[in-house]
Amino acid sequence: MKPVKVGILGLGTVGSSVFNLLNDNAVEIARRVGRTIEVAHIGARRDNPACDLSSVTVSRDLMDVLDDESIDIVVELIGGTTLALELVLKAIAQGKHVVTANKALIAEHGNEIFAAAQKKGVTVAFEAAVAGGIPIIKSIREGLSANHIEWVAGIINGTGNFILTEMRDKGRDFADVLAEAQALGYAEADPTFDVEGIDAAHKLAILGSIAFGVPLQFSKVYTEGISEITPQDVQYAADFGYQIKHLGIARKVEAGVEMRVHPTLIPSSRIIANVDGVMNAVLVKSDKTGATLYYGPGAGGNPTASAIVADVVDAARVLTADPTNRVPHLAFQPDALADTPILSMDEVETSYYLRLAAQDKSGVLADVTRILSDKGISIQAVMQQEPEPDQEAVSVVILTHTVMEKEMNAALAEIEALSAISEKVVRIRMEQLDD
Ligand code: HSE
Repeated sequence: MKPVKVGILGLGTVGSSVFNLLNDNAVEIARRVGRTIEVAHIGARRDNPACDLSSVTVSRDLMDVLDDESIDIVVELIGGTTLALELVLKAIAQGKHVVTANKALIAEHGNEIFAAAQKKGVTVAFEAAVAGGIPIIKSIREGLSANHIEWVAGIINGTGNFILTEMRDKGRDFADVLAEAQALGYAEADPTFDVEGIDAAHKLAILGSIAFGVPLQFSKVYTEGISEITPQDVQYAADFGYQIKHLGIARKVEAGVEMRVHPTLIPSSRIIANVDGVMNAVLVKSDKTGATLYYGPGAGGNPTASAIVADVVDAARVLTADPTNRVPHLAFQPDALADTPILSMDEVETSYYLRLAAQDKSGVLADVTRILSDKGISIQAVMQQEPEPDQEAVSVVILTHTVMEKEMNAALAEIEALSAISEKVVRIRMEQLDD
């Protein structure tokens, strides 16, 4: 059989890793596909010294790759959502299959891209867009296709996890750790995407869609970053037996689907609480299998290239298959996607860690607990810290049972209005991840 021809757009860290992986493991991959996969054309602004490009056509104009009629599969690795969207739609229009690692592109424009691909009878594969080298899309979309997925909770940004881990273990400064993550090549071009949760929200939007069969709705993902987490809260959480992790959570409840990214207290005894450094992990709870956990590197050249090449292998295997027999882009058949509402944060039910700066005098705690109780908020644990010398306020930490977020917001407004509460209450959501 003649080789499958691949075009690569972008030859940075990931592009060069894809090129080298396809060469290094060519024989093994051909044994799996039944055909050779050959990188025939690369579009890149400049060569990459990590790659021997002597046997491949290289164009500075990316469009030349799309116009190359010999190319079967285009791998988009230029990032961003403007030119990348144009290139992907053009590749589809030319009848080429597309593989991309671009989470922002899929999260924000996936509905349009998949509709175009469906119409043209080509595939758009995006395993590398979520959790790098962990085959989480395939696991949910194919491995768990017998199940109702109940919820998904993941550490899906390595940079954020690295920062929280270093802050906890070494008491390092937030900015210092971020600079190291950037130097190691884990952080996004704009690192606020990592620390403010936008990168994780892109990934969660994708996971939520394939878990519950709803269209991509990135704009409805509630997103909160880690930049306000203090070493004090990390320590108090540990005192109660919890770790603070930056989680993406998608959960199906009766009223709709929750999709949220925020710092979260989780019990230290959970395996996922012990996923440290830049590693990623995704915990999936499904009705028939129960909890399954997927762990691995969420970024980096080779792990990301591994996911991309697996998509190339999949595309190569089904090049001639009837499009209706391929795995649907969002796990469910396009005409079977549901219009289940994505819930606003007000409607989400969770439990909370609260830290209050309270004057150390009688009646303050009674006022706080009365406000919580009036809103139907039940307290699970309370800890008052020893007052620091010369400090008027003491830290009071409260863990609550589950309550709807709008009730908690109303309670916090009343608590913050008390004259004995001197600062904004720190509120971190808490999940048990056990049911
Ligand atoms: N900046 C991302 C991370 C890279 O830190 O996880 C992979 O998407």
